[in-house]
Amino acid sequence: MAKVPLPVNKILIQVRKLCDAAGFDPAVVVENHLEAAVRRRLRLTGLSVADYRDHIQHDSAEHGEVLEELLVRESWFFRDLAPFGLLGELAQTRWRYRTAPLRVLSAPCAGGEEPYSIAMALMSGGLPLATLHIDAFDLSRRALAQAAAGEYGARAVRLIPPALLSGWLEAASEGQFRVQQALRNAVRFHQGNLLELSGHFGPEKYDVVFSRNALIYLNAQARARVLDHLVGLLKPDGLLFLGHAETGLLRGRSFAACDYPGAFVFQRPSPSGPTPRATPVPRARSVVLVPRPSTQNPVTVALPPSVKPVDDFASVLAQARALADRGVYAAAADLLTTLLVQQPGRVDVQHLMGLVRGGQGNTLEARRCFERALYLDPRHRPSLEHLALLLAASGEDAEKVRLLQRRAERSDMPQ
Ligand SMILES: C[S@@+](CC[C@H](N)C(=O)[O-])C[C@H]1O[C@@H](n2cnc3c(N)ncnc32)[C@H](O)[C@@H]1O
Repeated sequence: MAKVPLPVNKILIQVRKLCDAAGFDPAVVVENHLEAAVRRRLRLTGLSVADYRDHIQHDSAEHGEVLEELLVRESWFFRDLAPFGLLGELAQTRWRYRTAPLRVLSAPCAGGEEPYSIAMALMSGGLPLATLHIDAFDLSRRALAQAAAGEYGARAVRLIPPALLSGWLEAASEGQFRVQQALRNAVRFHQGNLLELSGHFGPEKYDVVFSRNALIYLNAQARARVLDHLVGLLKPDGLLFLGHAETGLLRGRSFAACDYPGAFVFQRPSPSGPTPRATPVPRARSVVLVPRPSTQNPVTVALPPSVKPVDDFASVLAQARALADRGVYAAAADLLTTLLVQQPGRVDVQHLMGLVRGGQGNTLEARRCFERALYLDPRHRPSLEHLALLLAASGEDAEKVRLLQRRAERSDMPQ
């Protein structure tokens, strides 16, 4: 009698357990993500479902491989801009005369885009590379391999200020850019799970910790545990940078939010200090990131058209709107990204980007855009309405949805 093939769902329970152990939020890693991950591993290993079930039970390296399929590794240089502007300013002011190395941790670091941006921003503020100690950490071996190679496509480098781009990256093959060796040497990469973060480092603490855009993928218990590690790794008065959707996670931890719009940065209270208060970091202003004094021949890097300065903001915005209306979302998103580099504080552009991300089916990013628009203008009615719809559709807390709807209704009333 012919053997009946084992259905894929027989392995999903096993993979779900691996995800739980890694701290992944089951609300984010839904059933069809798991199935797609397993199907991809089946294709790549060439194993039958039954053989793969044996393989995953006996080979722990396969655990890492299947989890890799579920990780969101997307990152880019100077993501959100403001955190790096703030680092540049602090390098020029607070840290200017320090003698000890400035210790920074980027966890998670994805493919290295964040720690390399941190190094460039600090150097642009005047700190020499030799005075920086930068550790970077991630679960993904694939991301870390990219970090070590230091090669990126045009999309990832599009927000690097041109002077830093030509100062620290060189043209590689076919439209790729490579981070120069000196900068690559300045970052130490480590592999591991955020749940065991502290165990990877010695007792010396950090002046600055970046932990952006990973906590949102973790379940509540894992988030709390990772936050405990992060707090433990920070020096008193140290700065913790979170992703914009993650700032609420510090509630109840007596961190002080710093007054630097768009940077989502918090200061750890000093144990001797009375009540934590916002650190006197400079207010947002336009930050000039300067190139390092180069001893080498300057590299000319051909930028893709989307990173050239936009002459006519209004007409590019109209073009992006027309593309979005026609459902040409990827092109619309590219134009909007360029506009947001120039004017990150434009509510209408953030809102349109939210619609475009929604159109692309990226609800997480759409939500972030609407939240960013509301951060800039808490009474922006279209963003209140769209965010309420988005939350309702994803089955979020009904009270939160009602609150947004009520804010939308009241948004036109005089204050
Ligand atoms: C979206 S990227 C964010 C990278 C960067 N911080 C940024 O904001 O651009 C998320 C990264 O978190 C990593 N990651 C997710 N869960 C992790 C875990 N439990 N431990 C360590 N890294 C994890 C992923 O491998 C991925 O590289």
